[in-house]
Amino acid sequence: MKIPLLDLKAQYKPIKQEIDEAVASVVDSQHFILSEEVTALEEEIAAYTGAGHAVGVASGTDALILALRALGVGKKDAVITTPFTFFATAEAISVVGATPVFADIDPETYNIDPDKIEEMLRDTVKAVIPVHLYGQCADMDRIMDISKKYDLKVVEDCAQAIGAAYKGRKAGSFGEAGAFSFFPSKNLGGFGDGGMVVSSDAGLTERVKRLRVHGSQRQYVHTEVGYNSRLDSIQAAVLRVKLKKLDSWLDRRRAIARRYDEALSSPGITTPKTAEGGTHTYHQYTIAAHDRDSLLKYLNDKGISARVYYPVPLHLQPCYKDLGYKEGDFPAAEKASKEVLSLPVYPGLSDENIDHIIQTVRDFHRQGG
Ligand SMILES: Cc1ncc(COP(=O)(O)O)c(C=O)c1O
Repeated sequence: MKIPLLDLKAQYKPIKQEIDEAVASVVDSQHFILSEEVTALEEEIAAYTGAGHAVGVASGTDALILALRALGVGKKDAVITTPFTFFATAEAISVVGATPVFADIDPETYNIDPDKIEEMLRDTVKAVIPVHLYGQCADMDRIMDISKKYDLKVVEDCAQAIGAAYKGRKAGSFGEAGAFSFFPSKNLGGFGDGGMVVSSDAGLTERVKRLRVHGSQRQYVHTEVGYNSRLDSIQAAVLRVKLKKLDSWLDRRRAIARRYDEALSSPGITTPKTAEGGTHTYHQYTIAAHDRDSLLKYLNDKGISARVYYPVPLHLQPCYKDLGYKEGDFPAAEKASKEVLSLPVYPGLSDENIDHIIQTVRDFHRQGG
């Protein structure tokens, strides 16, 4: 039995007609850029996240970059973030000319540890980017308290966590801005790249709107140097169809996670922990195992796609050599990078698939790893 890590064809099949009609309607209109579809999606995401305002951009990476730019983060500034995330989080900081400063993670949730943020504070730090990794929110109460105390801006990296809640509020509604990715594999994924900045601050979102069209508010008048970073209407049309299904897909992910939790929890395996007050959306179902590499090979050999997110923490990336970090600086992130393993958890996974994955993991341990 072959089980992929994600099966987008299975997701598309039951909604094919609705999606195809939505795409055809954009094609008929011939309005491909920043059309009413994009505006409608912006309004729907603004309401869904509770942030109030939303601006569609070309990718999740751009959402981070434009949010930082709109907040005035640039050269001479430092931005604290986690070393245990996808590269784009730190890359966005570098692209705006600022310096990433890493703070270690909580070993149980894999999200940035608020105590470590406080340890890394210095005069140049202007902002924090907590990443809601694997689909659950970072400790936003503490992070917002710290940011208020030290006057820091907060940009939430919500790329993996659309729909995740923390103490009744949704990801993206805590900080000055939230950045979402609609990369096809995300829990809400388009048919190509796409992203969105959300914020409760109308002024900030106006600035992001300017930045996404070359820093111009009126055609051919440029008040600042910006970007070409617009969301395509076809992406918006696809995403609007999928957004209606999102909550039921997240429920299914949680149900699969419950089955894994019950079946896999054992001395050899640490199942993912949901932080108090949070609801996990399981963008990834990520276990930790001391013998991770052998388990990964075993699963892959048996036709089960499992993957490591992320094998190299960002402070050890070759491009960040000049930042002066070394192995041992962030023990929790380094340990996680050696032990984590994500299992298939997409909504279309059948009960038979789930049983097979559970059985295969158990077989591995029965055979002594
Ligand atoms: C945590 C995180 N941040 C940022 C991004 C960047 O998003 P995108 O690929 O849409 O640019 C991703 C996804 O790829 C991500 O997982």
